[in-house]
Order: sequence, then C-alpha cells, then structure tokens
Amino acid sequence: MSVAKKEYKRITVKSLIEMKQNGEKISMLTSYDYSMAKIVDAAKIDVILVGDSASNVIAGHETTLPITLDQMIYHASSVVRAAERALVVVDIPFGSYQSDSKEALRSAIRIMKESGGHAVKVEGGDEIKESIKRIIGAGIPVMGHLGLTPQSIYKFGTYTVRAKEEAEAKKLKQDAKMLEKLGCFGLVLEKIPAKLAQEVAESISIPVIGIGAGNGVDGQVLVVHDLLGMTHEFNPRFLRRYMNLYEEMSNAIGQYVADVKSRDFPSEDEQY
Ligand code: KIV
Repeated sequence: MSVAKKEYKRITVKSLIEMKQNGEKISMLTSYDYSMAKIVDAAKIDVILVGDSASNVIAGHETTLPITLDQMIYHASSVVRAAERALVVVDIPFGSYQSDSKEALRSAIRIMKESGGHAVKVEGGDEIKESIKRIIGAGIPVMGHLGLTPQSIYKFGTYTVRAKEEAEAKKLKQDAKMLEKLGCFGLVLEKIPAKLAQEVAESISIPVIGIGAGNGVDGQVLVVHDLLGMTHEFNPRFLRRYMNLYEEMSNAIGQYVADVKSRDFPSEDEQY
C-alpha cells in the first residue's frame, strides 16, 4: 500500500526536508498513548504528533488550553516508547512558551529530556519569534503552526477558516518565511484556503503539512481518533473518516454487556 519513494528506517527532520525535495508527500497523525502509537508507527506514518488536541480528545475539554506541560510529557513519553520509525513531535502547551523566551526554552527542554520526543511544535509567528530562536539555539528542532491556531481560539471566537482576508493572508505568508529563516524544520498550516497554502508551500524550502489546507502542500496531518471515526460529533469538510469505530466499538461493548447479563460470557471454554 505504501507509495514511499525511498525507504527510511528512522525518520528525522532531515528525512522530511528530503521528502519535500523529492516530491514525496509526508504523512502525519496524532497519537497520545502507547497502544495507538504502536499501530500508527507500524503502519509507517512519517510523523507522530503528540498534539495538545489530547486536551479535547483524551481529557474531554472544550479547548486545547487546559492541558499542562506535565500532562503533555506523560502523553509524549508513552508515544516515544512505541515509536520505532516515526519522528515524534510534541506540542508545547498553552501557557508554557508565550510569556518569555527563557520559559519557552525551559518547557522545550523538559519535553525533550523527560519524554524523549524528537522535536516540539509551537503556534504563532512573529509574536513568538524570540522563543523559537532560543529553542532552536539550544539544538531543539521546532515545527511552526499557522492559520487556525487552536490555542488562540478565544481571540478568533470561532473555528472557521482563517486567512480569507488579504491582510491576514499577507501576515501568514510573512510569518511562514520568518519561521523558515529562524530555522524551523517544518510548518503546520491549519484550515486556510488551499490556494494560499499551496502558495506558502511553494515559497519556502521547509515541509508544509496541512490540515484543512488542501492538496498543494507537502503533507497531511489528521487527529487519529477522527480518521478512525472514534469521534463523531463534528464533521469538518477536511476530515476523511476511514472507519466508523464509534459504531463498531459501541456494538462490541453493547454485545459484551448483553453477554454478561445473559450469563453467556464467560463460557465453559473461557474459564479455568
Ligand atoms: O494538536 C493537534 O492535534 C494539532 C493538529 C491539529 C495539527 O496541532
């Protein structure tokens, strides 16, 4: 099923840049725990993102804001133990890098040291320039994230498509160039017009990974629970569900409940 142009034993930030140069699309998915990451890694995903979307998907919060640095480190260390091939990128959570660049570096170092992750991701452009510079200066690979940046949801007010207006599109293009210049190894573009995303991807040498940003970018990222259909409450246009696990799991668990109640489980063969 793989259409890889080159076999990689272990993905590094250099492999991703090489993939862009070779025109090979980059696959990226979230994971937050060992068991899921094992499956995702064995399927030869290029990048596993330990996203702060764990705040929504795992903890049930409405936004990504409440998740803490300690919680992100816990999720990331579980994923790192599972990943044999994929590059593991870890989100630095809201409140752990915005106040000053020294705090940003301390947070990035904690993630790298305590989880064993391979790189960090931060949301924003010019406003967090100093933090990015300092983290990269310490030898930690940084991935940027522009467009719909969920940590700023209260500033935006809604989860609708970003950068449709010329002024915001212009700032996004400038920020993308600045992130490349600072030394970021990649960039996530979330929920922006496909034409703009393609323009950005063609204007910089680092890989651009899209989510709701069309097909003209260098790779795609999705939340794994969405792809598998474990979540079902929302249906953004950009989401392709490959399974309906919500239904399959509900049916399986419902059947188990029925089997316990009816004394069908365990059977003679299922006991000692
Ligand atoms: O936290 C996350 O899952 C993300 C992706 C949506 C890119 O940042």
